[in-house]
Amino acid sequence: MTILGIETSCDETATAIIEGKDDHVLLKSNVLATSLALHAKTGGIIPEQAAREQAKVILPVLKETLSKAFDTKDPLDSLKHIDAIAVTYGPGLIGSLLVGVETAKTLAFVLDKPIIPVNHMVGHIYANWLMSKDQRPTTKIQFPLLALVVSGGHTDLLLMKRHGDFTLLGGTRDDAAGEAFDKIGRMLGLSYPAGPEIEKRAEKGDPKRFRFPRPLLHEDTYEFSFSGLKTAVLREVKNLNAKRSTLNAQTINVICRAAQDAIIEVLVKKTLRAAKEHNVKSILISGGVAANQTLRDSFEQKIKDQGLTTKFFAPAKNLCTDNAAMIASAAYFNFNPVPWKEITADPELYFE
Ligand code: KG4
Ligand code: ZN
Repeated sequence: MTILGIETSCDETATAIIEGKDDHVLLKSNVLATSLALHAKTGGIIPEQAAREQAKVILPVLKETLSKAFDTKDPLDSLKHIDAIAVTYGPGLIGSLLVGVETAKTLAFVLDKPIIPVNHMVGHIYANWLMSKDQRPTTKIQFPLLALVVSGGHTDLLLMKRHGDFTLLGGTRDDAAGEAFDKIGRMLGLSYPAGPEIEKRAEKGDPKRFRFPRPLLHEDTYEFSFSGLKTAVLREVKNLNAKRSTLNAQTINVICRAAQDAIIEVLVKKTLRAAKEHNVKSILISGGVAANQTLRDSFEQKIKDQGLTTKFFAPAKNLCTDNAAMIASAAYFNFNPVPWKEITADPELYFE
């Protein structure tokens, strides 16, 4: 089964072609245009500007995706090889979502193909089933599993007993993990999105100089909270400024280290506690923050230290952040086509 995926929920315009076979999906092509450079100056996304860019680039991005997947002179003719269309219908920015949803509906209508609306967060989880051409699965993802989605907008811990069956164990009460990285980065004068730079700087930072709080770590809940951590970092930055000890590169590095350590400890400990309680066979992480190597290493190490048999999975790093391949992958495993007329963008969509 060949599926075209379309993802435009935030600032990215992405389309991809995947081929689903039994219990895995092969990535045929994956193209992404981002308007991030436009937003870097303002330190965040300007929704209207993002949507205008997406409307401009979606068809060229689609054309490139088709020529890469089918190796043909006439990419539009290759649309006939597609069996279904998958599109993100929420959550996200309304203007941005509409660009993808309306493009997908038009294609479904003109080509008379089934269309599957996909929840962006579910899409992130399904990045774990994607494989490139030369990859062979060494270990299979098995149910029941825990899925930790850590992105710029969400921190959600879900129990999945089978495909499409999600029980939300906990979400964030305030900031998402990626949002915490970005806000802390902004306080330190780092560019947006700050996660990758915080990770790099943290490697050079002494872990003992600062210790920030681990919110809700010991409480009997799978919910998360990162706003207290953000406030603690802000207080420290203000203290340092007041003492006129300038925020030099070395101090920024140690703050990055301490903040990253706090975020990672909370994510890993809570997930492993849930893994034991629900006796899961696999743990899957996904979303932009899942690209963080220190987070991945920490999961592997703690699973080993605690003698758990649970297998740990994380998508290829370029598939952790937003992309359309994950949307197509989710549609393959949850093949629920809907008449195109019934699909509407839902910016507030959640798991429940
Ligand atoms: O999943 P994503 O691309 O977009 C949303 O759906 O939100 O996630 C983006 C988030 C940003 O907050 C970014 O700072 C964070 O993922 N991120 C990272 C890393 N790479 C991206 N956070 C920590 N370490 C990284 N290496
Ligand atoms: Zn995302």
